Amino acid sequence: MHHELAGKTVIVTGGAQGIGHAIAELMAQEGARVVVADVKEDQGRAVSAAIGADFVRTDVSDVDDVERLVAHAISEHGGLDVVVNNAGITKFVDFFEIEDEHWDRVQAVNVRSMFFLMRAGARHMKDHGGGAFVNISSMAAKGYRHTSSAAYASSKGGVLGLTRAGAMQLARYGIRVNAICPGIVLSPLNEQWVAEHPEYIGEIPLGIPSLPADIAAAAVFLASDRSRTITAQSLNVDGGLTID
Ligand SMILES: NC(=O)c1ccc[n+]([C@@H]2O[C@H](COP(=O)([O-])OP(=O)(O)OC[C@H]3O[C@@H](n4cnc5c(N)ncnc54)[C@H](O)[C@@H]3O)[C@@H](O)[C@H]2O)c1
Repeated sequence: MHHELAGKTVIVTGGAQGIGHAIAELMAQEGARVVVADVKEDQGRAVSAAIGADFVRTDVSDVDDVERLVAHAISEHGGLDVVVNNAGITKFVDFFEIEDEHWDRVQAVNVRSMFFLMRAGARHMKDHGGGAFVNISSMAAKGYRHTSSAAYASSKGGVLGLTRAGAMQLARYGIRVNAICPGIVLSPLNEQWVAEHPEYIGEIPLGIPSLPADIAAAAVFLASDRSRTITAQSLNVDGGLTID
């Protein structure tokens, strides 16, 4: 055990399954006090109990929920050092078939939520020695040609803009903000898509899809003091699909 995150309080959104679950689990193993936030209450509670994390039922698109989540972490766990903005949604939909509600919901869950959580978290961090935000974007933000929808790609591009602007405006308080751009990750979000399109795996230069644990390893690094002079960056974890 390295305990890279010993003594830190961490919020992981969307931690009931997939990438968020792997991040929450690894961060708990690294010594963090982890608060999992998800709309999936039963699954989130079960997963959290199994990894030794706390759970708060949260819809990240609801500003009141987000404020309650941050207040809970601070009052129950003595502060807030790291937020992993991971919760995200998509569906596979053609450009002309995107409905207004789909567009708005995707922006609300995938990027609007991240600003609210950053604002609430940074209000505390700026007076308590700083902190770190790790925002989960996607290679969709960087032009992946098989992306699920233009709404999704736009939201993930917004995550990168928010990450860079947030990093610049919060650096003076010792708050770092970085993004991870996963490629094809085997998770519940895309298992059907991967099964239907094995040829897309063949396009990955390293020849292998990522696992949720691969994204978790990058998240631990960006959350830990080992990356203390890294901010405003986006790290591609995609087997070489994106070069930038
Ligand atoms: N799987 C991939 O290949 C891939 C690739 C690039 C980026 N990503 C990104 O990684 C993140 C995690 O994806 P995943 O593959 O683990 O997805 P997933 O669908 O398996 O898990 C997402 C989690 O987010 C939760 N969630 C959804 N809406 C929420 C809301 N409003 N409030 C709180 N929680 C909510 C879900 O309940 C679920 O537990 C997402 O932001 C996704 O866009 C995934």
